[in-house]
Amino acid sequence: PPLYVITPTYRRAEQIPELTRLAQTLLLVDSLVWIVVDDADEPTPAVVNYLQERRICHVYLIARMPAKYRNRNSLHKPRGVANRRKGLRWIKRHAKSGGSLYFADDDNTYDSRIFEEIRRTKKVSMFPVGLVTSLGVSSPIVRHGRVTGFYDGWIANRKFAVDMAGFAVNVNFFLSKPKADMPFMVGREETKFLESMDVTLDDIELLAVNATKILVWHTRTKKNGRAKPGDKKLDYSNSNIDALI
Ligand code: UGA
Ligand code: MN
Repeated sequence: PPLYVITPTYRRAEQIPELTRLAQTLLLVDSLVWIVVDDADEPTPAVVNYLQERRICHVYLIARMPAKYRNRNSLHKPRGVANRRKGLRWIKRHAKSGGSLYFADDDNTYDSRIFEEIRRTKKVSMFPVGLVTSLGVSSPIVRHGRVTGFYDGWIANRKFAVDMAGFAVNVNFFLSKPKADMPFMVGREETKFLESMDVTLDDIELLAVNATKILVWHTRTKKNGRAKPGDKKLDYSNSNIDALI
């Protein structure tokens, strides 16, 4: 059965580099459907071309963040939520043969072995994520093979204190929950999505050797300050470099 990987992405100078890193990992994964959802009003030609050139089974969708959230400070924007909701709707409409789904932000770092593990998900699976908050890791707490709580730098009364990269869902389980959805929120979208499927701690299956190995990292790419019109730096330009988008 297929593995559906939903990747939110948006236009910026780092977009193609991020997608390139992720694509190199996904090229190692069999039976994959990569659902790339761009936060844009219209398709981004560089992304469409990039995806067409790769040997990865993919779907390219667009889903713009609603206007009312867009002028908020970046930390208070529901980043990637419109994209993930669109990806979930695509799965509802098109996924007919089971499988698993996973949200893979474009800027994180993934060991391809986690994707093989995710395939075993019967309801909801979880595993540690490195580099989340100053604690350095976010993970389910396991006692005698069961999840008893969460280790995370920001528990904040969340039922499931997990990072977006720290869980996967069985597609038939998701399809059996008509209310399953991700709300427009910042920080609680993971727990609210799991709660919308009535998930309990007992439902959680542990991957990555009982949640003892880190196979996913919440990395962030430093933004490169860019020249503005009038800057001396712009005196030199090379329009033949098509990687400059
Ligand atoms: C963290 C979580 O990993 C996200 O899943 C969560 O949405 C976010 O916090 C949050 O709570 O707001 P973080 O690394 O802080 O993510 O955020 P970004 O990497 O900037 O954005 C998450 C995803 O949304 C990325 O795949 C990014 O490409 C996409 N994004 C970001 C958009 O589609 N539009 C934007 O305007 C910004
Ligand atoms: Mn990120």
